[in-house]
Amino acid sequence: MKTRVFHPENGENEIREAAQILRSGGLLGIPTETVYGLGASALNEDAVLHIFQAKGRPQDNPLIIHVPDVTWLERYCAQVPDTAYRLAEAFWPGPLTMILPRKPIVPLRTTGGLDTVGVRCPDHPVTRAIIQEAGVPVAAPSGNTSGRPSPTSAADMLEDMDGKIDGIVDGGPCRVGVESTIIDLTVTPPRLLRPGGLPLEELRRILGEVAVDKAVTQKVTGSEPPRAPGMKYRHYAPHAPVTAVTGEAGRSAAYIRSVLQAGEGVICFEEYRDLFSGFQVQSLGASGDSAQQAHRVFDALRRFDSTPVTAIYTQCPGDAGLGLAVGNRLKKAAGFHIVDADRLPQAVIGI
Ligand code: TXA
Ligand code: MG
Repeated sequence: MKTRVFHPENGENEIREAAQILRSGGLLGIPTETVYGLGASALNEDAVLHIFQAKGRPQDNPLIIHVPDVTWLERYCAQVPDTAYRLAEAFWPGPLTMILPRKPIVPLRTTGGLDTVGVRCPDHPVTRAIIQEAGVPVAAPSGNTSGRPSPTSAADMLEDMDGKIDGIVDGGPCRVGVESTIIDLTVTPPRLLRPGGLPLEELRRILGEVAVDKAVTQKVTGSEPPRAPGMKYRHYAPHAPVTAVTGEAGRSAAYIRSVLQAGEGVICFEEYRDLFSGFQVQSLGASGDSAQQAHRVFDALRRFDSTPVTAIYTQCPGDAGLGLAVGNRLKKAAGFHIVDADRLPQAVIGI
C-alpha cells in the first residue's frame, strides 16, 4: 500500500480527503499535541482490527477514542459524572484522557473487551477538523510499532508505518511530546493510570484526592492485572538495554560517568553533556525544564536505534510536574531497571 502524505497548509481539500479515509474504514496517521496517533473509525470493527495489525498490538490492549469537543462525550459514554465536565472545561482540548463507562455503540474490539472507554479531545486544530468532517470518533493509539518509542513527528511515524497505512497528516512536530495523562473516573477516588502531558498537580487542583496506580511507578507483575492494560507491556524501548538513574542530577551524572564503558550511550540533561564527550549522547534539555524534556524524550530514545550502542544509561528527572511523565517513560524504556544515585555511597559514584 502506498501511504499518502497530507499537507493541511495546502487547503481544505487535504482535510476532506483525509476525513474520507476515516469514513471509508482506512488507517490515517493523525497529529496531536502529544504524539502522532494511528487513527481509524472507532465504530468500525474491521478498521479497528487493522489498527491492531498495523501496530502489532495485542488485542486486549484497549484504544482511546478522540472527539472534536465535549458535546460528543455522551454519545459514547454512560453515567458521565459532573467531574468529567469540570475536567473537560479546564483541560480540553488537551492532553487528558478520561476513562468512563462505555455505551454499547462503542465496539468491544475498540475497548479491548472492557466495559469502559477512554476519551480525549486533542489540542490540534487540524485533527479536530478532520474528526468533525469524518463525523465519527477516531480510535487512535500512538503511531509507533508496538514496543517502540511513540512518534513525535510525521517522519518518525513513517519510519514505523510507511506502506502499512493509507495516509498520514503532517501537522508538524508535537508540542508536548509525551502521551496524554489517563484518569479513571469510574472509581473513587479517581485514579491516575498513566502520567502524561497534563501534570498530576493540575488534576488534583480540580478533583482533590487522586490515587496513583501502582503501574505508574513499578513493573507490573503477572498476579495483579493493571487497570490500564497497556502498562503491562514492554514499551518505549530502544534496541539496546536501558538503565534509568534517578536522584539528584549531579549525583546521577557522576554515577553514570563512573560506570560508562566504551560503546555505550547516555541520555543526560544539557548541563552534563560535556561530562560525556567521546560517548554517544542525547540531551533531554536543561535539568530544570521538564517541558523540554517531555518534548525530547522519545526522540532521544529513538535516535539510539541508528547507532550501534550496546547499552544506554539515562538520567531521570524528579516527579514534580511533567517530570512524573518523563521519568515514567524512561523507567518503562528501562523495564524498571533503576539505580537510585541518592542511595549510593560517595565512593561508588566517584565524587
Ligand atoms: O496522547 C495519547 O493518549 C495518544 C494520542 C495519539 O492521543 N494516544 C495513546 O494511545 O497514547 P495508546 O493506545 O498508545 O495508549 C493508551 C493507553 C494504553 O496503555 C491502554 O491500555 C490504555 O490507554 N487504555 C485505553 N482504554 C482504556 C480503558 N478503557 N481502561 C483502561 N486503560 C485504557
Ligand atoms: Mg502507545
